[in-house]
Amino acid sequence: MYDYFLGGETNWAIDRAAAERAIELLPWVRDMAKANRAFLRRAVRYCLAEGIAQFVDIGSGIPTVGNVHEVAGELNPRSKVVYVDNEPVAIAHGQVQLEQTGEPGRHGMVQADLRDPDQLWQRVLDTGILDPARPTALLVVAVLHFIPDEEWPQAALADYRQRLAPGSALVLSHGTLDAVTPAQQEQLDAYTRHYAKTQNPLVWRSRTEFAEFLGDYPLVEPGITWVPDWRPDPTIAPELRTDLTDPSQSMVYAAVGRKP
Ligand SMILES: C[S@@+](CC[C@H](N)C(=O)[O-])C[C@H]1O[C@@H](n2cnc3c(N)ncnc32)[C@H](O)[C@@H]1O
Repeated sequence: MYDYFLGGETNWAIDRAAAERAIELLPWVRDMAKANRAFLRRAVRYCLAEGIAQFVDIGSGIPTVGNVHEVAGELNPRSKVVYVDNEPVAIAHGQVQLEQTGEPGRHGMVQADLRDPDQLWQRVLDTGILDPARPTALLVVAVLHFIPDEEWPQAALADYRQRLAPGSALVLSHGTLDAVTPAQQEQLDAYTRHYAKTQNPLVWRSRTEFAEFLGDYPLVEPGITWVPDWRPDPTIAPELRTDLTDPSQSMVYAAVGRKP
């Protein structure tokens, strides 16, 4: 569905039908996806500019418009990326994509679940691609809102935070209903019910709940913002420009924390 929203080509009839229904219920959902994807690119560029050249992208999804290894490779041809997803179709497509555009030794993709940090981290390290002693950018972008509290996403994030080397970055985005007006509530309820029928039901969280995922990591300026407001740079991804009239319409928070 996300790939379809972004105008990608790796989607199937069943995804397109579900995505079209989501668009009927929330006509600006494509722009929400684009705004999120553009944030991901800007955050990757920020990390590279800070000298962080290795990335773990949890919930990377099916390879789609502007993949992390491509964005990173443009700025640093020696950058390294390990993609992680728990979805077998995303893994299969990711591996094909990396065979075509990746480089063994610098890029990898593993199947693992965010909710199992021990296994996930071991699989990432088993690729031999990353040096865990060096600063790493951990990307968990548009993923946590698929994990309910009872599956302990907060504990998982705390675990990852303590594994990262000093100087590492934690890049997060997350869906929220904080800016939804009473007039929009019914529309959003219908949208949430629609997602409840998919493989990835949505769990919206407040700004305070989102902030907890960053733990005690100091936040990079400008702190927690709507995705379009995090260090905007329209030159980076003109194909991801949106018609959102207000940043809060993205309904997605963004933040980057750094481990001192
Ligand atoms: C909306 S996509 C986000 C793609 C990319 N991170 C981005 O923001 O452009 C969400 C991805 O999270 C993955 N995902 C959901 N729950 C997960 C879990 N428990 N562990 C790993 N990946 C998960 C889904 O399979 C999907 O590929």
